[in-house]
Amino acid sequence: MLSSEKINMEALEAIQNGAASKPIFSKDSCVVFTVLGASGDLAKKKIFPSLCNLFEKKILPPTCQIIGCARSSMTTQQLADKSNPFMKAKNKDVLTEFWKRVSYVSCGAYDKAEGFITLSDKIEEFEKSHGGEKRFRLFYLALPPAVFIPVCTQLKNNCWIQSRSKSLEKFTSDRYTAECRVIVEKPFGKDLESSNQLSQAITALFNEQEIYRIDHYLGKEMVLNLMILRFGNELFRSVWNRERIACVVITFKEPFGTYGRGGYFDTNGIIRDVMQNHLLQILCLVAMERPVSVHASDIRDEKVKVLKFIRPLDLDDVVLGQYTGNPDGQTEDSKLGYRDDPGVPNDSKTATYACAKLNIDNDRWAGVPFFIKCGKAMNERKAEIRIQFKDTPSDIFGSKCKRNELVIRVQPDEAVYCKMNVKSPGMSFEAEESELNLTYHERFQDMDLPDAYERLILDFILGTQTNFVRTDELAEAWRIFTPLLHKLDAGAKTPVEYPYGSRGVASADDFIRDSGFKFSGTYKWTAAKK
Ligand SMILES: *[C@@H]1O[C@H](CO)[C@@H](O)[C@H](O)[C@H]1NC(C)=O
Ligand SMILES: *[C@@H]1O[C@H](CO)[C@@H](O)[C@H](O)[C@H]1NC(C)=O
Repeated sequence: MLSSEKINMEALEAIQNGAASKPIFSKDSCVVFTVLGASGDLAKKKIFPSLCNLFEKKILPPTCQIIGCARSSMTTQQLADKSNPFMKAKNKDVLTEFWKRVSYVSCGAYDKAEGFITLSDKIEEFEKSHGGEKRFRLFYLALPPAVFIPVCTQLKNNCWIQSRSKSLEKFTSDRYTAECRVIVEKPFGKDLESSNQLSQAITALFNEQEIYRIDHYLGKEMVLNLMILRFGNELFRSVWNRERIACVVITFKEPFGTYGRGGYFDTNGIIRDVMQNHLLQILCLVAMERPVSVHASDIRDEKVKVLKFIRPLDLDDVVLGQYTGNPDGQTEDSKLGYRDDPGVPNDSKTATYACAKLNIDNDRWAGVPFFIKCGKAMNERKAEIRIQFKDTPSDIFGSKCKRNELVIRVQPDEAVYCKMNVKSPGMSFEAEESELNLTYHERFQDMDLPDAYERLILDFILGTQTNFVRTDELAEAWRIFTPLLHKLDAGAKTPVEYPYGSRGVASADDFIRDSGFKFSGTYKWTAAKK
C-alpha cells in the first residue's frame, strides 16, 4: 500500500546525507510543490512523471502536496489525462494515489496578483491542515521566458511567506516560517547582457539560496559520476593534467532535425541550445580543481574558477554546420534540410552543428585543447566525454601502441571504458587495441537509473543546490560565448552544409586533428544492447 506512513525515510535521509551536511527534512516537514505552467509540454512530459516516479519509489517526502497551476481553467482529472500517457508507472493504483496528491489551481493572467493570491490561499490551506513546523513552498516555473519576471514578481508579492505574514498570523505562532524556492528553466537570456539583466531582476526578488537554475545534463548519471571517477580514483586523479592528457573531446549528437520548431531554433542556434549550457557544464566537471568538500558552494566555486580561466571564443575557434535534406533519407523528415522548414528564413545562417575549441589557461590545462561539439540531424544519438592521453614516450613495439582513451558515455547505454593496448592473444607478441569495459546495464543489472529530471527535482525538494547553476557561473558561461555569438548573429560566418544523417562537418575532424587529437580509425566501440 502506498501511504504516507510507509515513506522510505531511510532512503530519503541517505540521499540527503550524501548531499548536504545535515538533513533538512524530517517526518513532519510540510512541502507544497507548485508547478506553474502545468498544462504545458514540460510539465506533462517531465515534471509530473518525475514526481510520480519519486512517489512510487516512496522518496517523495511524506507530506508533499502538489499543485498544478496555469492560466486556463481545468480540472485535476483533465490535468491527469494530459500527463498519464507519459507516466512510467503503469500500475493504475499508483497513478490514482499519485493524482490524489495533486490539485489544480487556475491563476488567470500571469501578471495579475489575483490568481497568485488564490494560489497562496490554497498553499496555506494545506499548511494549516498539516500543521507541521517545517514548511517548504516550492515553485517550478515551467514557463516561457517572456512571463518569467512577471510570475517571479507575483510569487514574491503573494506567495513568499514574509510578504503574507499578516494574514498568516491568525493560525500560526510567531515561529511560522517557510523556506521558499523556485526552479527556473533555460533560456537564461541570449547573451551576457540579457542574461545579466534577467539575473538582476531575479536576484532583486530572491536570494541565491532560493534560486535553482536547472540544466538537466547535471542530473544525468554519468555526469554526476565525473566527480567520483576523478577524485575517488588515484589512478585517474594523478594523470588528470597537461603532462598526461593530450586533449578532451565532449560530444553531443542527435539523429533528428528541427523540423516543425525551426522558427524557435533559428533565433537560438545550436551554440545557445546545447553548447553554452549542457556541454560547458560537463566541461567544468571534467576540468575543475578538486573542491574542498562536496558541499554545493564548494563545488560551484570550483566551477566558476575554471570558467574564469577560459578565454572568450572567436570565429577561428569554431567550425559550424547546417544540415541539408538527404534525398536518400529513410524518413520524410530526413529528406528535408534545415532551411526547408517554413519557420526558418530561407537565407538563415544559423548553425545546427558546431565544434568549438576552448583553452583553459591554468597550470593544470595550459596547452590542452578542449573540444565541444554538438549537432542535430546526425548519424546517431550519443553524448560522451573522451579523454585522450599522450603517446607513450617511446614505443618499442613498432609503433603499434595507440593512445589510451578514457571514454565516459553519457547516453545512451551508459558506460565507462578505457581504450588500451594489450598483447595480441596467442603466439604473437604484438600490441593490439582492446578495452577495459564497464557497461552499466551489465554491471548494475537491477539498478534503474533515474531520469535526470527526477533526480534534480528531488535535489530541489531537499534543498541541494550542487547540480543547479549559480548566478556567477551563468555569467561566466555567457562571457565565453557572447563575443562569438554577436559576430555570428551579424552573419560573420556561413555554416558548412552537411547532409541529414551524416557524421557532420568533415572539416571539424581536421580541426580537431590539427590541434593534437589522434584519430586512428582502427577501433570501434560496440555498446551493449539493453
Ligand atoms: C527567399 O524568401 C524571400 C522572401 O520570403 C523570397 O523573395 C525569395 O525568392 C526566396 N528565395 C529563395 C531562393 O527561395
Ligand atoms: C562491453 O560490455 C558489454 C556488456 O558485457 C558488452 O555487451 C559490450 O559488447 C562490450 N563492449 C566491448 C567493446 O567489448
